[in-house]
This record gives sequence, structure tokens and C-alpha cells, in this order.
Amino acid sequence: MNLRVDSKDTYDQFSKECLSNNFDFWMKRSRLFSWFKEPETVLTGEFSKGNIKWFEDGQLNITVNALDRHVKKNPDKIAIHWEPNDPAEPIKTFTYKEVLENVCKFANVLKDHDVKKGDRVCFYMSMVPELLFGVLACARIGAIHSVVFGGFSAKALSERINDCEASVVVTVNEGPRGNKTIPLEEITKEALETCKSVKHTFVLKRTNKKSSSEFKQLNGLLDSAGSECEPEVMNAEDPLFILYTSGSTGKPKGLLHTTAGYMTWAAETYKNVFQANDNDIFWCSADIGWITGHSYIAYGPMLNGSTQVMFEGIPTFPDAGRFWQVIDKYKVTHFYTAPTAIRALQACDERFVDQADLSSLKVLGTVGEPINEEAWHWYHTKIGKELCPIVDTWWQTETGGIMISSMAGITPSIPCQATTPLPGIVPELVDNEGRVIEEQEAEGNLCISIPWPGMARTIYGDHERYLQTYFSTYEGKYFTGDGAKRDLVGNYRITGRVDDVINVSGHRIGTAEVEDAINEHEQIVESAVIGFAHDIKGQGLFAFVIGDESKSDDDLLSSVNLEITKQIGPIAKLDGLVVVPGLPKTRSGKIMRRVLRKVHEGNLDQLGDTSTLLNPEVVEIIIKKMRK
Ligand code: WTA
Repeated sequence: MNLRVDSKDTYDQFSKECLSNNFDFWMKRSRLFSWFKEPETVLTGEFSKGNIKWFEDGQLNITVNALDRHVKKNPDKIAIHWEPNDPAEPIKTFTYKEVLENVCKFANVLKDHDVKKGDRVCFYMSMVPELLFGVLACARIGAIHSVVFGGFSAKALSERINDCEASVVVTVNEGPRGNKTIPLEEITKEALETCKSVKHTFVLKRTNKKSSSEFKQLNGLLDSAGSECEPEVMNAEDPLFILYTSGSTGKPKGLLHTTAGYMTWAAETYKNVFQANDNDIFWCSADIGWITGHSYIAYGPMLNGSTQVMFEGIPTFPDAGRFWQVIDKYKVTHFYTAPTAIRALQACDERFVDQADLSSLKVLGTVGEPINEEAWHWYHTKIGKELCPIVDTWWQTETGGIMISSMAGITPSIPCQATTPLPGIVPELVDNEGRVIEEQEAEGNLCISIPWPGMARTIYGDHERYLQTYFSTYEGKYFTGDGAKRDLVGNYRITGRVDDVINVSGHRIGTAEVEDAINEHEQIVESAVIGFAHDIKGQGLFAFVIGDESKSDDDLLSSVNLEITKQIGPIAKLDGLVVVPGLPKTRSGKIMRRVLRKVHEGNLDQLGDTSTLLNPEVVEIIIKKMRK
């Protein structure tokens, strides 16, 4: 029994079954896992109040399901092919048995340093196998992992460490990335100057560079640790991890995911969407610093006993053929990446694709942002040779796993459409007044109206903000922050964010956060950031700033970008800026970014009524400045 969606009929049947008896449906699925105590309850709490518990009386350990179960049956099956940044370096391969041993060693090192159930452990690493082992080691002993992407700055790292009061930080001496190395140990040192909660910091030696700190050397500790570690008995709703993501206001939010529901969702969505079989080779090119790397590297494939590639590098190093060479090298069957990478590689010489044998591919996937027609067709034709279904998977850090997507080879892929919801997901389109749009063919704000196991349970330390952000805009519903269109037969096309979040290269960036960083610049008084259509990145960032008008915009741009790099990290750098004498504001003082977006696009006939602004005259001045 694996209860997989294996035909259009089972898809229809499961969707119906789940709606009519959510409890039975998920109870059956819970029995696919190994529990210390099987749950009797399925769903408790109140969705509309943002208070939901799944399988609440069950007890389990997610690593038993991701590792021990498979080790019992098939210990020598390869779990991970690790491909280093530089193809000249040796690869590493780990069987399920070896992953379990490495996870236990890491868990024992943490335990030896007094890490206990519920403690927060922050990882600030590159894509080394030890990151995966460390994350699972936390899950083994019940510690809560919080992975911070290696592209964030010292300040961003320290904010995240402080927010969850992590007691342990794990880093690497340097993270190789293309032809650069990121000095992660140095950055961690700087971050820790303002972190009081941290008791132990570990550094893994990844490159030959000598360690520059007093941090504990992880390599030796791992080597000498015992390779067995009893899994901690976890309650279903015990926290599994925190992952920070940007919102439309204020500081990043630490979304908290719990154990059994997340496990069920990561495992089920991986199985149904990708349809990978026992001998298939799955490759998700995301970083574990993002939710995609959590759900479709660390958990989904492992829970299903799959073999996967873990990649340390970037798509264009040593050249733009790297992705295709890696697919060829490991005979990857399922490849999952972001539209931004596809667009970047599409812009390169086709020779890079043609040099690789891509005939192993069966399924292609995309995630993180809407994919444009051109990129979709190139991916389909040039990479998939028109033989591979494309799963365009819509979901969010908050949802824990894929929500709307076709299922490879089972339900049809349609260019640029996420298509249909997974069984158990009920999307709704709501208009700006909060009315549910009943017409089948419609466009509106995307909400989800019933609970699903993978949803984040809270924002760490701030449940009020969680309720405010997700459950207050439209009463009784989870609001995604995205807009979507629905066609006559119920397929969804995601149109992008409808809030003040910008999706740059598939990374969520809150305008407020970037503005805060810009305003730290000594020559800038105030700023407004907007997103604009960008050929490669999907969206780029542009700022209107009030500041020193004697400087050229270009000079100011580079120094502002230095400030942003310091405050957030290079991912939030601006593509352009213009100095303006004022920003268009409503009478209540809110910046009208919509007007600025239209001015930037040059759509001056769509500015709307600007006379209601507090300072309408400023719009004319900005238009003139933009023309220059
Ligand atoms: C966007 C990434 C269109 C969307 C898994 C969402 C998408 C945000 C798609 C979440 C898709 C994700 N088509 N847009 N297939 N997938 N998005 O939290 O705006 O990093 O709200 O999770 O990415 O980004 P996050």
C-alpha cells in the first residue's frame, strides 16, 4: 500500500475522498509511516483561528521514517550523490546506512555539547553533506533547526540567531561558490558579536584555509563520535524547524513547522508530484537554506527512500553547461529547479546543452516564481526533448510543501500554469472586498480554505503576527499573498505577489526590509522600493530615494548596494535607483508604490487619480527625472 496518485482517476477519487472525509483520508496516510505511538486523532483545533494540530496524540521521530526504515530494508541503497562546486574535486556518495551513521555522529556531537530537545541550532553553511546530516541530527534528538542561507550578511544572520535564541551555531570555514569562496566563518564571527544566546559554535573545515576563530573544529568531533544514536520520542506537534522568510512588513518571520504534519506533507507531495520510482535519480538544485531544499532535499526524497543528487555549486561554473553535465553524469531522471536558472541558461550558447546526454530525464519541475512562456517552452523542448512532463509547483515556506501542481504524467502539464490543487487542498479566489468569487473563470487573491498537514503552525515567538499576516485579511481563510487566475476547468495560473513582497530570482524579498537597509545609508533620508519585470531574475529591484541630489545616481547606487549587502546580503541588491525630492504618499502617509511602479514602467496613462495624494506635484517631478 503506498496510496500514490497513479492515474487521473485516482487523483479525482483522492480529491473527492479527502473533501468528504478528511479524517479517514489522512488517517490512512498516517499509517504509511513508522510511529512509536500511532495517532488516534487526525485534526484538532480551529483553522480560522490559526490553531491547528495534526495527529496530535501520535509519537514518532521523523528520522526513523527518513532513514532507519530504509536502512532496515535496503541499507546499501545510495541516498546521496554529492557533487562538489568544482567538478575537479572528488564526489562523495552515501548509502542510506552511511547517512544514518553520519546523522547519528552529528547528533552525538550535539548531545555531547548539551543540546537538548527544543533547543535551537542555527546552520550557516554551504551545501556540504554535513549540512544535511546536521539538520537530520537535530531532528534525531528533537532540537529545532534553523538554517540560514549562506548568502545572508552577518547582520541578517545575527538577527535570525537572536530571534530564535539559538544556543548552537554551525558554520564552515569557507563556502565555495563558483569561482569565489564565501568567508562564512568570518561572517559568523562578526554576527556572534551581538548574539548572547550562543553557547557553542562549530566550524567545519571545507577548504584548506586555516580556521580563523576559536570555534570548535567539527571534523575531528564528527570522526570520533559514536555512530549510533537513539531517536528522541517526539510528539506529533513538537517543533521540527524554523525557517525565516521575508514578509511585506518589518523583520523576517520565523515560520515554525512541526513534526508529523510536515512529514506527511513533504512525503506525500514528493511522491505524488514527481512520481519517482525506486531506481530513479532525483535532483533538486535548491539550497537547503530555502524551504525547497528542506522539503525536497532533506525530507521529501529521504522519506520516500529515493536516491538524489546534492549539488554544492552554481549553474554557470565552470561553464553554463554545468547543470546539464551533472544530469548526464548521474543519469538524473527528475530535475527540479527555478525559472530564473532556466532563463539564465537559456540565454547561453546552446552548445552547452547539446554537449550533454540528457536522455535519462523523465520529469522536469519548476518552483519559486511564475515561469514565462519562452522559458517554459525552452525547458520543455531543449531540455526535456518534448518527452518530459513539467510540474510547475506552486507553494510557499508557510505551506511546507507543494500545494498546486500537475502530477508528472498523471494530470496534464499546461505551459505556465500550476494547474490543479493536490488532493486535500481547496484554493479559493477572493476579491478585494473579501467576497469569494464563485465563477469558475476568474482572477483574484489566492486563499486556502481548509487545513492541510504541512502548514506552518506559527511565527516563532509571535503568534499574533502569524494570525495577523495569514488569517486576518480574509476571515476564516489562509491568505497566501499571491494573486491567481482560474480557468473554466479549474486550472490555476499564479500571477505573482499582491502584497509588498518582491520575488527576485525566486527569492522573497520584502520591500520594507530593503527600504530599512537603504535608509541606513548616511546620505539617504527615505526610500521606496518597487519590483519591475527583469529578463533573467523575473523581478528586479528599483528604488526611489530622497537624498543627496548632487551625487550621480550611479555613484549612489554602488554605495547603497554596499549598505544593502551589509544589512541583508547581496541577494537584495538594487538594479537601479533614482534620487527624488519626495515620495508620493496617501494622506495617511503610506507610500503609493503602485504609482511608482507605473512611472517606472512608463505607463503614465495608468497612474490613476493622483489628486488624492498628499503631494501630487511630486509625481510630475519624478516622471521628469525618470525621463532623463
Ligand atoms: C512564489 C518557495 C508562481 C509565490 C517554494 C509564493 C510561485 C512565493 C511558484 C513563495 C510557482 C512559488 N509559480 N509563483 N510555481 N512557486 N511561487 O516561500 O509568489 O520562498 O508566494 O517558497 O514564491 O516563496 P517561498
